[in-house]
Amino acid sequence: MAFLSDTLARVKPSPTVAVTQLAAELKAQGRDVIGLGAGEPDFDTPDNIKAAAIAAIHAGKTKYTAPDGIIELKQAICDKFARENGLSYAPAQISVSTGGKQVLYNAFMATLNPGDEVVIPAPYWVSYPDIVKLGQGTPVIIDGQPKLGYKITADQVAAAITPKTKWFLFNSPSNPTGAGYSRAELKAITDVLMKHPDVWVMTDDMYEHLAYDGFEFCTPAQVEPALYDRTLTVNGVSKAYAMTGWRIGYAGGPVDLITAMRKIQSQSTTNPCSISQWAAVEALNGPQDYLAPRAEVFKRRRDLVCERLNAIPGIACPVPEGAFYVYPSIAGLLGKTSPGGALIADDAAFAKALLEEAGVAVVFGAAFGLSPNFRISYATSDAALEEACKRIATFCTGLA
Ligand SMILES: Cc1ncc(COP(=O)(O)O)c(C=O)c1O
Repeated sequence: MAFLSDTLARVKPSPTVAVTQLAAELKAQGRDVIGLGAGEPDFDTPDNIKAAAIAAIHAGKTKYTAPDGIIELKQAICDKFARENGLSYAPAQISVSTGGKQVLYNAFMATLNPGDEVVIPAPYWVSYPDIVKLGQGTPVIIDGQPKLGYKITADQVAAAITPKTKWFLFNSPSNPTGAGYSRAELKAITDVLMKHPDVWVMTDDMYEHLAYDGFEFCTPAQVEPALYDRTLTVNGVSKAYAMTGWRIGYAGGPVDLITAMRKIQSQSTTNPCSISQWAAVEALNGPQDYLAPRAEVFKRRRDLVCERLNAIPGIACPVPEGAFYVYPSIAGLLGKTSPGGALIADDAAFAKALLEEAGVAVVFGAAFGLSPNFRISYATSDAALEEACKRIATFCTGLA
């Protein structure tokens, strides 16, 4: 009898975590490495949020909580959905988990049966297909189009849906491309979904507050209210409030689904950290005035990186609407050889040679299901980005 499960064989470890670890190891060995792999803001958690957590500790709010969140946080989330998204949820329709990742995990675990299909636009956040596979489901990938900044079209969604489709998974602004869907683009997709009443919609709105140039963020149940009864609207405090380590994500959805997700959570982590929940109450109810200036900093960095990368022959980098990622294509560099003798056969070879020969850590596109590209996270200092772009330019122009 095999010791490890068949399920384990279906999934792979997170490649973004692997790149971050490798860059850290090289740095520890004394190598000069600029890490552009990590998917988290370089800003600190705001002081009012930290103070709320410290107050929670002093007040003894350090015990188990209700499995899917304290009522104060659920109410704060309901208020957020009403205020920012025009969505009306009651606390019984809210689930709070240990990060957005656990929300997605719970939802898929609670709903997927072997053979159920989940339509996922690529390039996708690395964890989507693997969480689906952990839930015994089958990811069905549709490829974003380079000329659309790697967005997918409504026709592609229509073509991907089969009688086995259980979920359509949507993410805007996107990790890894930063692409954000306009209301009209999203409406075209929700129109298709309206023709398929058995397909549920999972929308991952994690990067809602990181949008630039006046981009209007919208979410499926807002654009098509008739989808409300079969939509799980997922969000969290990790990216917007620079709280990745606090591990709080949440979702609003139909009561039966939320109840099923609670059952999964009650048999795994029991509840998200009590102290982090009180911090998240403050994040959502407290002042929001630092969000816009922080987004302005990200926009400036996006512009810097896109400008520098697009000046490099062989690289084409769409200018995305949000998040803190860009997803340049290296189609123009394939088949070349690096000064160190590495053949750039694909984006994995490119990223490896770039790290080893130029000291810049990026994540190769194949990890996100669409090649030949790489992802840069520009959530780091302007100086580091300037230097990284210089190194990338030198490396690319040195390819022969
Ligand atoms: C698109 C997307 N969804 C969800 C998550 C998970 O967020 P959390 O840290 O809250 O689990 C991430 C984190 O990188 C992400 O990029």
